[in-house]
Amino acid sequence: MKILSGNSNKPLAEKIASFLSVPLVRASLKTFPDKEIFVEIVDDLKGEDIFLIQSTSFPVNDNFMELLITLNAIKQGSPRSITVVIPYYGYARQDRLIIPQSSIAAELTAHLLQATDVNRIITVDLHAPHIKKYFTIPIDNLSMAPVFREDILASHSLENLLIVSPDAGGHERAQMLAHSLNVKAITLFKDRDEITGTCTMKLETSVIDQNCIIIDDIVDTGETLCKAAELLMQKGATSVRAYCTHAILSGSTLEKITLSPLQEVVCTDSIFLPLSEKQCVKLRKLSMAPLLATTIHSYA
Ligand code: R5P
Repeated sequence: MKILSGNSNKPLAEKIASFLSVPLVRASLKTFPDKEIFVEIVDDLKGEDIFLIQSTSFPVNDNFMELLITLNAIKQGSPRSITVVIPYYGYARQDRLIIPQSSIAAELTAHLLQATDVNRIITVDLHAPHIKKYFTIPIDNLSMAPVFREDILASHSLENLLIVSPDAGGHERAQMLAHSLNVKAITLFKDRDEITGTCTMKLETSVIDQNCIIIDDIVDTGETLCKAAELLMQKGATSVRAYCTHAILSGSTLEKITLSPLQEVVCTDSIFLPLSEKQCVKLRKLSMAPLLATTIHSYA
């Protein structure tokens, strides 16, 4: 087994390699003046099972193209198998046709990945799990829910604990987590203005005196989490926290979170954040490296 890291999230790849006690494969990436990418793998890959780790996070297009080109370079080394580990799968939010004659980029990215002759994909908390149908190769869509569950048990009392999905799309995720904790779950009704990106939320259940934990797959602009937290507090909740797998945190999201009634946002390292967590005292990170390392090990 050999582990290779793309450039989108080297710290996570290093952690995974360290869990597995293997060195990262040596590779070099050159960018030409017009931003074309050239990848060279230094170590011998012949007959090996290769695991390439690359999140297709910001800058999504550069990281995605680097992934395809690296896969092409790996193929030239005649490995036995190639598995791509995509901790955060960008473009998964473009999972279906919403407007006629618009793009379904999740389908296109699936086809592009398969064109590289990759054998398997491992990812985590896909925004829309049904995009698996766009692939003909196996996809492991891992869940951070057991890690979140352990963290909730270690840091919170289950008394008056309520799990909240901020929208219909996350209903099942919230229900499953609540069931595993033996507490209740509710789902908010979210409506997002496609032009301004602002959300309006509705709540039909009492949350008085409840300690609410919002569970979501992505925090991007923070609009969903912050609006949900404001509504829950207005309706009498005692506290609101959130667990989100993928912290995209575009623009001024950290500032928004700081000013919001959210007490804490727990996220993962699926996306490399080039900031110290001190810049937002409300943000706490859990690593997905053990989960990914265990899964990689099971295939080695
Ligand atoms: C939506 O369906 C997702 O599950 C997230 O709620 C959404 O992507 C979060 O985005 P934002 O932070 O921009 O509201």
